[in-house]
Amino acid sequence: MDDQILPGTGRGTATQSGVVEGALHERDAMGHAPSTSFAGPPPRAGEDLRRDFPGIGDWHYLDTAATAQKPQAVIDAIAQAYGPDYATVHRGVYKRSADMTLAYEAARRRVAGFIGAGSENEIVFVRGATEGINLVATCWAGEQLKAGDRILLSQLEHHSNIVPWQMIAEKLGAHIDVIPLTEDHRIDLDAMAAMITPAHKLVSLAHVSNVLGSVLDCRRAADIAHSVGAKILLDGCQAVPRMRVDVQVLDCDFYVFSAHKLYGPTGFGVLWARPELLEAMPPYQGGGAMIDRVSFEKTTYAPPPGRFEAGTPHIVGALGLHAAIDYVESVGLDRIHAIETDLVAQTRAALPQINSVRLFGPEDSAGIVSFVIEGVHPHDIGTILDEEGVAIRAGHHCAQPLMASLGVDATARASFGVYSDASDVEALVRGIGRVTRIFG
Ligand SMILES: Cc1ncc(COP(=O)(O)O)c(C=O)c1O
Repeated sequence: MDDQILPGTGRGTATQSGVVEGALHERDAMGHAPSTSFAGPPPRAGEDLRRDFPGIGDWHYLDTAATAQKPQAVIDAIAQAYGPDYATVHRGVYKRSADMTLAYEAARRRVAGFIGAGSENEIVFVRGATEGINLVATCWAGEQLKAGDRILLSQLEHHSNIVPWQMIAEKLGAHIDVIPLTEDHRIDLDAMAAMITPAHKLVSLAHVSNVLGSVLDCRRAADIAHSVGAKILLDGCQAVPRMRVDVQVLDCDFYVFSAHKLYGPTGFGVLWARPELLEAMPPYQGGGAMIDRVSFEKTTYAPPPGRFEAGTPHIVGALGLHAAIDYVESVGLDRIHAIETDLVAQTRAALPQINSVRLFGPEDSAGIVSFVIEGVHPHDIGTILDEEGVAIRAGHHCAQPLMASLGVDATARASFGVYSDASDVEALVRGIGRVTRIFG
């Protein structure tokens, strides 16, 4: 007899809640749920949010799109989970393990509520967005696609939303098509509508670009994909930290994101999929925890999501993500969105005043501003800014095909978070002024 308590089996109180409280709530026209409908603390107002982050101090950290700094609440939750509360999950007959199992599964319910999933059983815990996409490529595309089928991506995708599809396409004899960008650097949905055919079985697009900050009209992209019977995966890495997301109203089929960009721990993330898709997918990896019964004659598998979570999971990652979601909702995603929108507007207004600075991305980019200074390598920009206490990202941002289409090898990128404020923009602009004086 297998002694594990698996999510979705109904064994263990942590897994029996059914529909997530707050999941089936009203949404606005963009498919975003009101943040107040989630079970969480009421939004705070007026505090200096920088003080919540021990890693910030007076540092001008403008690399949140790479990874977000952690609030003390998340650090405390992780310390508590690795300290006095630590035990394994799904196996122990002793109380601390049972409690940890409850906490682990409570985190799954919290994630489900956060993104509007119908049930916690639609939430697969993975190592990050990268693993989530690889899982779908292997277990869904690998099963459903055949030679000659086509996959539709866009020009602005992160490598983790390109390479897994190339790997599976090569194996199956499938093909990849690429949606171009509009002049203002959005995924061109008119072009998508013109190029999609019934041979396209899957569309996979960034909800928010990690380089340009462009926000996808997900609902329209989903409508176009579904019009030919294709499934659509949305890469939500840069969206979940900056805007309210509801997978039901976005009408996608798969959604992935990483915890560390949402102020949570690294090495942890989420794949959401429609339950009927998960049900039909074979396991990703074999091992403990993903089985129903094992014998040398025949092994049967657990139902989703346990089927996709072989081995001892990243228990503390789940608890850290739970704390991160609590934190983000205590501030309020609307407030975070407003903070970042304001800072993007300030940056986009100030930088072009400096000679030879060129901006990328649309005016309404979400939280991210990419730019170049003619004649200066972005690495030099980053190094000089570092001397000024300003941390930006410089490079290709894991988006080499996008760099090629923009006609550059690299860009400098400033990205904001909940702790960002006008002093960061001022320091950035001051630092860029110094760069141009040094290279001028
Ligand atoms: C848009 C986007 N997709 C995917 C990823 C990959 O995320 P991870 O490395 O956490 O798996 C990133 C990380 O930068 C990203 O920004």
